[in-house]
Formats: sequence, structure tokens, C-alpha cells
Amino acid sequence: MSRRDDLAEREGSWTGREFEVAVGPVAHGGHCVARHEGRVVFVRHALPGEQVVVRVTEDRHERFCRADAVEVLAASPERVDRPCPYSGPGRCGGCDWQHASVPEQHRLKAAVVTEQLSRLAGLQVDVVVEELPGGPLRWRSRARFAVDRAGRPGLRPHRSRDVLVLDDCPITVEPAVAAVLGRSWSGAGAVDVAVDSTGAVATTRLDRRGRPLSTRMARAGDAYPPAAAAALSPSETQALGRARRQAGGRDWEVQGTGFWQVHPDAADALVEAVRGYAGVRPGEVVLDLYAGAGLFGGALAPETGPGGRVVCVESDAGACAAASDNLGDLRHAEVWQGDVDAEGLNGLLAELGTPDVVVLDPPRAGAGPDVSAVLAGSGARAVVYVACDPASLARDVAVFLAGGYRLAGLRAFDAFPMTAHVECVALLERTTPALPG
Ligand SMILES: C[S@@+](CC[C@H](N)C(=O)[O-])C[C@H]1O[C@@H](n2cnc3c(N)ncnc32)[C@H](O)[C@@H]1O
Repeated sequence: MSRRDDLAEREGSWTGREFEVAVGPVAHGGHCVARHEGRVVFVRHALPGEQVVVRVTEDRHERFCRADAVEVLAASPERVDRPCPYSGPGRCGGCDWQHASVPEQHRLKAAVVTEQLSRLAGLQVDVVVEELPGGPLRWRSRARFAVDRAGRPGLRPHRSRDVLVLDDCPITVEPAVAAVLGRSWSGAGAVDVAVDSTGAVATTRLDRRGRPLSTRMARAGDAYPPAAAAALSPSETQALGRARRQAGGRDWEVQGTGFWQVHPDAADALVEAVRGYAGVRPGEVVLDLYAGAGLFGGALAPETGPGGRVVCVESDAGACAAASDNLGDLRHAEVWQGDVDAEGLNGLLAELGTPDVVVLDPPRAGAGPDVSAVLAGSGARAVVYVACDPASLARDVAVFLAGGYRLAGLRAFDAFPMTAHVECVALLERTTPALPG
């Protein structure tokens, strides 16, 4: 049997079966591990140490199946009432840990990071997950909602293409909820929404393949949908096309629903962590890879001073345009549009020489072994790796370890409360002298 995820249900499938299990440790992906009749059962809606009845939801692999805890026979002391009425077995798939106390959520995330670094990089690391201000609800300032065939917005149940129609999403900030939920998005497949630091709301309609159709912006306090948009002057419309953000002591502009940290306090926390780990000195050369609107490059450029150089690399044209504007006052900072891949990086390094510090903040899949190997061979004294997936991070850390680096620091932030996601910042320091040339 192949290991593809789109396998059909197995012959003799357990799907729909119910049985009792003792819930074991948490695993990457928002579930815990249990065993039944010699097979692994990945259980959602449970906590380590609990005794539960599970119902199997998916059985496509020989060695494991997936299940929801549908009855709790012996609860963990860390179990709490879910604050969201839409979460629970078979319901909204957006959150993983609504049923866990906040300290337990942090312990679960820390355990996952520790386990991934141990399994994939052979490291033993004690991890503490740091809390961001604001509590576990109403933090999501950017979200994508699915839209059903009738034009009604909602979220998808776990591993499902269905749409659960919602009136509210308690982890999403209220202006975003008000702009999207309970409205008709007829003809769209999904809608992206972002609320910036001024309270302005941007919505982008997407087609059923996820391609953007149109964006609308409304200033804080404007009625939504922005009926007044047609009356705006061209310069007002252009100004509204960008969302304003503040982080690291600077003001930023990004495309309306373009990439920015989802939690309103995450960008600040990450800048502080990256700055601390990078320890940039005047005159140094810094590479900011997967730079988005230039957040880390812009935060580090004042530290290199005009005698140094900061090169931001980003593939998205809109993000590059925003980064060029954001870094316009920093003459020693440049924005290069292009894909970060092994070939492109080798070309960039040939032109740039040895960077002193590399910051990279790739999407969930991580930089990958090829890009990591090029960076490990770059001679940089420090690599600061910002990662939203601990498995991708751990896989790439292993490449840096093999290339003469050591993991000199790791911070983890609860930038996605109620979900299994965690944001890490890792410091990799060179232990062997850089090769000449
Ligand atoms: C996690 S975001 C980080 C953005 C920025 N560092 C920040 O914190 O705001 C990842 C960024 O990488 C960009 N990206 C994705 N794949 C890329 C690639 N192969 N090469 C360059 N940029 C890429 C995306 O467009 C996105 O802006």
C-alpha cells in the first residue's frame, strides 16, 4: 500500500467504529497518540493522560487511523469548557486545543517542538512557549474563510472540503468577523480578510481555485461593505489599498490582505527575538530571505548602519513593492525580487560575498534541505531561522548541524492560541571556520 494521503479507505476499514483508548503523548498536527489492537490512533479533541471513547474518522493507512474523542471517561485536570460553540468533534477544524487550558496548550506546543528536534535533528532541547499579550481569543487579524455554493462563509471541518457556516469565530478580531461572516459572498470560493493596526479592514474575494478576484478596503469605523468606496479620490483609494502595521519601532505598509503576522503582537515579538539572536554589528552584511514587506531587514538595517548592507529577497511582486517603499529611508537596504532556491542563492552569494547574518522566514514547508545546505556553506556567522512549522525547522536544522553549525538558541511563541501552531525562532551559529572563497 502506498503512503499517499489521498488513499481510499482501507478494506475492513475502522471508519465509524468506536472504542476506548488511553490517550498518550501529543504529536505534531494537533492530535495525541493512542494505540488499539496494535495500531496507532491519532486522536483529536483529547489530552494526554485521558481515557476516552474515540470514533474513527479516517482509516486509509495500514499502521494508523484518525479518530475524534467523542466521550471523555477520565478527564485531564487541564481540560476546560470550549469557549467556541463551533468547535468539537466533527465540527469546525480551525482550532485544535479549545478544550485545553492555556498553560496546557503551551506545554503541548513545547512538547511538539522538543519531539521534532529530537526525532529529526537528534537534539535534546528544553522548550518554553512564550505567551503574547491579549489572551487566547480575538487575536486573529488575518483569516481565510471558505464560502459554500450558496455564498455563505464559514470554516472547514478537519480534513474536509465541506463548509461549516459560522456566525462568529471567537479567535478572529471582531472587525474581521463583522466584515465577512453572516454576509453573502455569492460566486466566491473563499474570502481573505485582514484588519490593520489602524482598524482598517481589507477583504479579498477568491475564486474556487484560490485566485484573487478583487480587494475592497474600508477605514476603521466605516460601514461595511464600504459603500463610500466609489466616492474616494484616487489617492485615497491608493492609500487604502495598503494596510498599515507597526512593529519593531517602525511603521509598515503591506498589500491589503498580503502576508503579515496574524497575531497583532507577533511581529513585534519576532523582531525582538531576531534582533537579539542576530546581534548585528555596524558594517555587517545581512540577508533577509522570504522577506515579505521587509520586516526583519528593515528592523536590522539601523544596526548595520550605512556602512553595512541589507539584502531582502522575496518572490511576490506586491510584497517587494511594499518592501521597497517601507525601506525607502534606509539607503543601504535593497529588495531583490526572486525565488529563494539553491541556484538563485548561489548566484546571490557569488555577487554578495559572505554574509555575516542570514535571517530566513520561509512559508510552512520550510527552506528545504537544498536551500539550507547552500546557506550552511555560505560562511555566515549566524543564521536566524523563523519557522511556523517545527517539523520543517527540525529537518532543516539537521542540515545546518551537518554543515558546521550548532543550535545556539531557540525561542517559541504562542502566536496562534487555541491551535496547535507555534512560531519558533532558532539561532544557528557557525562552529567551524568558513571555507575561503
Ligand atoms: C512567512 S512569510 C514571511 C514574511 C516576512 N518575513 C514577515 O515576517 O512579514 C514568507 C514569505 O516568503 C515569500 N515566499 C514564499 N516562497 C518563496 C520563495 N521560494 N522565494 C522567495 N520568497 C518566497 C512569501 O511571499 C512570503 O512573503
